Amino acid sequence: MSSFAASKILIFGGTGTIGRYITAALLRAKHSFQQVVLFTSPNSAKEKAQQLDKWKSEGLSVIVGDLTSEADVKAAYTGVDTVISAVGRGGLQHQINLLRLAEASESVQWFLPSEFGTDIEHNDKSPNERPHQLKLQVRKYIRENLKRVKVTYVVTGPYFDMWVDASPGFEIAGGFLPEKKHAYVIEDGNGKVGFCTMPDVGKFVAATLKHPEASFGKALKVQSFVVTPNEVLAEYERQTGSKWEVTKTPLDEIRAFEAKKWEEGDPRATLVTLRRIWAEGGTLYAQNDNSVIGMQPENLDSLEAAVKKALAGGYKKDTF
Ligand SMILES: NC(=O)c1ccc[n+]([C@@H]2O[C@H](COP(=O)([O-])OP(=O)(O)OC[C@H]3O[C@@H](n4cnc5c(N)ncnc54)[C@H](OP(=O)(O)O)[C@@H]3O)[C@@H](O)[C@H]2O)c1
Repeated sequence: MSSFAASKILIFGGTGTIGRYITAALLRAKHSFQQVVLFTSPNSAKEKAQQLDKWKSEGLSVIVGDLTSEADVKAAYTGVDTVISAVGRGGLQHQINLLRLAEASESVQWFLPSEFGTDIEHNDKSPNERPHQLKLQVRKYIRENLKRVKVTYVVTGPYFDMWVDASPGFEIAGGFLPEKKHAYVIEDGNGKVGFCTMPDVGKFVAATLKHPEASFGKALKVQSFVVTPNEVLAEYERQTGSKWEVTKTPLDEIRAFEAKKWEEGDPRATLVTLRRIWAEGGTLYAQNDNSVIGMQPENLDSLEAAVKKALAGGYKKDTF
């Protein structure tokens, strides 16, 4: 495979929360690839028809099908050499079949599973973190079963665009409320966190596809910037020209809140666990892998730009 180049790319989940950024970035880079194909459910094809029509006019091919149907997936894999999965948490387990069929196919050579988040093999505690379990099962399946197809995990850490939003009722887990000029930080707010903005996730995936040899078999740790919550707060204060109120919550209090939410069966317990992991240093590395795929700071969003965007309404205003 020394001369492999990603040519015909198939995306699952490409209409989703992060998938949209990936699809849009691949369409921007489409001259580097022969074809970009999106596999989407009948439901999304209907509900997101306007978006799909726009993308089709920009060169996207669309296949409507059921990703749990072997026949649909086999047909979609025809001639495809590279598969990207950006399926949501509810669909992670279906990736085992997508991977099995990729390995059995005649054309698929490279698969990027749905990761785009927290480093699930960061330290000794990682194997026991509840939100990691399905992604760890996918990695186990890959290690034990994929012989021919190469795999790359794109590990982005938290999306800054989402992390800045304090979630109602979950404020103590961290975030910013511009309308109240109130910040919630964990501990003293001086712990560094490595972030990706959502548009940069798309750029990193496009860059990965252009660097196959450097990416095969790796979990690429990519980051837009590494900052502390207090640095984010200072940027909010600078851009709003005012001092903000700050609530500081000790990690132990977050851990107790997290345990309570899991006990109650609250689906947002995942959010608290991930925020606790990020506050514990779960996004920090001696060095990230940005340069492995040719990404430099000038290609990426800055803290200043990301806070400016958050103050203007954030990622929910993004169009594709
Ligand atoms: N780092 C972070 O801060 C962060 C935040 C959020 C998510 N993530 C990660 O990003 C990845 C994608 O998550 P997302 O939130 O972008 O996904 P999402 O919007 O919930 O779903 C993405 C797409 O997956 C497809 N899908 C197919 N079967 C599914 C099923 N049974 N359940 C859910 N989705 C299904 C759907 O596409 P079609 O209908 O088009 O087929 C859906 O639009 C995940 O691995 C997640 O853990 C990371």
